[in-house]
Amino acid sequence: MTSETEHVAKTLPARYYTDPTVFNQELKRFYSEMWVCVGRANRIPAPGDYFLREVGGESLIVVRETGDKIRSFFNVCRHRGTRICPVAEGNFAGHIQCGYHGWKYGLDGRLMGAPHMHESFHREDYPLHSLNTGVWDGHIFINMAQEPEPLLMQLKDLPQKFSHWRMGELALYRRITYDVRANWKLILLNYNECLHCPVLHPALSAISDYRSGSNDQPNASYIGGSMEFCGGAQTMSTDGKLRRTYLPELTSEECTKVYYYTIYPNLLLSLHPDYVMTHTLFPRAVDRTEVICEWHFHSAEMSKPDFEGDDAVKFWDETNRQDWSISELSQAGIGSRAYTPGPYSRSENLLRAFDQMILERERRDA
Ligand code: FES
Ligand SMILES: [Fe+2]
Repeated sequence: MTSETEHVAKTLPARYYTDPTVFNQELKRFYSEMWVCVGRANRIPAPGDYFLREVGGESLIVVRETGDKIRSFFNVCRHRGTRICPVAEGNFAGHIQCGYHGWKYGLDGRLMGAPHMHESFHREDYPLHSLNTGVWDGHIFINMAQEPEPLLMQLKDLPQKFSHWRMGELALYRRITYDVRANWKLILLNYNECLHCPVLHPALSAISDYRSGSNDQPNASYIGGSMEFCGGAQTMSTDGKLRRTYLPELTSEECTKVYYYTIYPNLLLSLHPDYVMTHTLFPRAVDRTEVICEWHFHSAEMSKPDFEGDDAVKFWDETNRQDWSISELSQAGIGSRAYTPGPYSRSENLLRAFDQMILERERRDA
């Protein structure tokens, strides 16, 4: 006879959070073969503007070539392999030059100058190694696979679903980078349930009902759902008070909720009635993840002389730190010899779906 307990969904075995071999396989599977969000297009507004991003153990250059063309390259010189650019962000002023022997590349990656090379040397044989690059509503994505599926296929229905927020038109207000001592999946698991909210986030629970809202049917590209405000709150901030007008195209229903979505493998979208918060995750080790949190507001609001955004930043920065701290404690506990997979409740169905996605992709590669 099969007992009910045998069917209870359980958390993943420890090796998924502690084994460097599993970590390296996941880096390849999720961060080299899927579209990964690396930042925002408005971070590099002018031709030559660039920033560096480390993804899957690789240093990448993300650069604006022309008005509407963004490219990305491996940060590796084609001469003797030197890392070309050591500075985190800036402007290339027309070309990208290696600091070793001066090989010079165009913003499109073509090799333009290679001093001292022999006469039969063909510059066209040595462009920078480029990556597939795409932009969705202001978010830049890269993909290291040779022939990836189109970005829009990975995003499924999200472009239509979230079109009312017009994310491409929002401007950055604040960026905070966190160094979290936890496996990247623990951070995603934490983001996708709010059963912990009454215990861990009393301030959040005062303005948002963790039992409200609903989740979408999970799929291979994303999981997520919404939560409603409570206690008279109108947005997520230190006091729930609305200090900015609603984003212009939202429906009245969209103004009553916050939408929380995880777009695999590394973008967390938190869509509020009056601003958008994003987290991008960059795994650094099996037990360490760099998390970049950004707050984006409508530029018309930001240009008002009495604009305020710190209420949203302070609220989420405190909540973030509570989440990172508990994720680090999760990491510590899972590293114990006493850890064995524990049971999920029915309300943790998104977490179960995430784990299933991890296992499914692992099976596909086996
Ligand atoms: S290694 Fe870059 S120019 Fe020589
Ligand atoms: Fe939380």
